[in-house]
Order: sequence, then structure tokens, then C-alpha cells
Amino acid sequence: MELLRVEGLSVEIAGKRVLDGVDLEIPKGETHVLFGPNGSGKTTLIKSILGFPDCRILSGRIWLNGTDITSLPTNERVKLGLGVAFQNPPPIRGVKLGDVLQHLTRGVDEMKLTATVNIPAEFLGRDLNLGFSGGELKRSEVLQVLAQKPNFVIFDEPDSGVDVENLEVIGKAVSKFLEKRSGLLITHLGHILRYVKADKAHMLFNGRIVCSEKPGKILDQIMKKGYKWCEKCPKVKKRRQMR
Ligand SMILES: Nc1ncnc2c1ncn2[C@@H]1O[C@H](COP(=O)(O)OP(=O)(O)OP(=O)(O)O)[C@@H](O)[C@H]1O
Ligand SMILES: [Mg+2]
Repeated sequence: MELLRVEGLSVEIAGKRVLDGVDLEIPKGETHVLFGPNGSGKTTLIKSILGFPDCRILSGRIWLNGTDITSLPTNERVKLGLGVAFQNPPPIRGVKLGDVLQHLTRGVDEMKLTATVNIPAEFLGRDLNLGFSGGELKRSEVLQVLAQKPNFVIFDEPDSGVDVENLEVIGKAVSKFLEKRSGLLITHLGHILRYVKADKAHMLFNGRIVCSEKPGKILDQIMKKGYKWCEKCPKVKKRRQMR
């Protein structure tokens, strides 16, 4: 059975149609990758799966582990086992990273967990994401997801802006976490795929998933030909003619 199923999802944000009939299925135990150019709607898809109110669903449905979550509030979706490490998490004054972790972990050794993502202990006393460097933000997001232990987890560009050593730290932590879980990984350059084994990759283009292939195959094409390769794809051309 699929852990995540998205069917015919069209979404508008700030009056603009960003997703236009997205179909996506991620079976239990698998990790998939989502590729797509800047502004193609990857983060919007994630926000829609989480139920952010600014993502207005025009049509389509979303299922998590067999439950239709399309109309559920975000907190209910999280209770059902959905977790997200955001691309650009906002700073939150007055809420300390340590408080968030304590709330999420319930008895798990916090210090051990912070060490796995190379976050120094003093960060627990800092306001969430306030003044965190780019790489620290990514590690803090991964840390919070590890603490939450969701069944289905989405990582939105966990490898962007991360140095080589920390890429290894994040990559290994994410890989171990995904061993017994299912997930969706967004990456532009595929650095994290050096550590994380992914089963399948999808290309989001013009508001739709236009192809699904082995991750290495899609990444190879992107690196060699860029997204111009998608422009030339017969499937994309045909769809444009149909509009
Ligand atoms: N709140 C908003 N107001 C106006 N436009 C928005 C808003 N949120 C998203 N958009 C637009 O929707 C489109 C998709 O944005 P999104 O963040 O989903 O792209 P992305 O695929 O994640 O890109 P990137 O690879 O750069 O992270 C963009 O053109 C973006 O400017
Ligand atoms: Mg994005």
C-alpha cells in the first residue's frame, strides 16, 4: 500500500495556479526524490500535503497511510505521522530549540540526538532558528524531524548550503532514519543521494509530475542537459498542445 498518495492535485497560491494535476504515489518503506526547476512548485506541494491554508486546493485528493487527509487541519496530519524538514524555516522568538525538542522527544536522550546532527548543546538554549547559519538551520530542521519520529517524512533541500563535513553528518542521519520509514526528498544537485538510497525520482514540471525514473537516471539528465531536457520531452510538448 502507498504511504502517501496524491491524486490530481491542483493548487493555487496567492491567486496563481502552481500545481496542475499532480499525481504521486510513495509505497510503504520507499524513499522517493522530487526534482524540478526553481519555482516549479516543489515546496508548494509539500505545504499542500501539510495543509497550509495559503495553498488553496482547487481539485484533487491526498491520502496518508490510507486516510484521506485533504481537508484535515495540519495538526491532525502531523498526528497521523507526517513530518517535514523545511527548506526555509522561520525564526521563532521566545521558543527555544530545547523546549521544542523536549515537547517532541518524550523521554528520548536529547543530547545524544543533538550529537547525531552535530548541533552543540548550547543551541538548546537559543531561540528557534534565530541567527542560525544556513547549515545550522538545516541541521536543526533534521534534528526536529528525528525527534518527532514521523512515519512519513519530507526533507525539502536538506543538502543546500551545507558544507562537506556536515553533508556527511546530515546524509548519514537522514539515511539511518529512512531505513525503516518512507519519505520524500527534494534536492537540486543530488548531493544527499551520496548517502541516502532512494528508490525512485519524479520530475515536477509545469505544475505536474512529467516523469518518474531511477534517481540516478533523472539526475544524470539534469546535470548533462538541465531542464531544457524537459522542455523537449514529447510528453510535455503534447500536454502543452492539449491546453
Ligand atoms: N505566498 C506566495 N505568494 C506569491 N507567490 C508564491 C507564494 N508562494 C509561492 N509562490 C510562487 O509559487 C511558485 C512555486 O514556488 P515554490 O516555492 O513551490 O517553488 P520550488 O519548486 O520549491 O522552488 P525552489 O527550487 O526555488 O525551492 C513560485 O513562482 C513562487 O514565487
Ligand atoms: Mg522550494
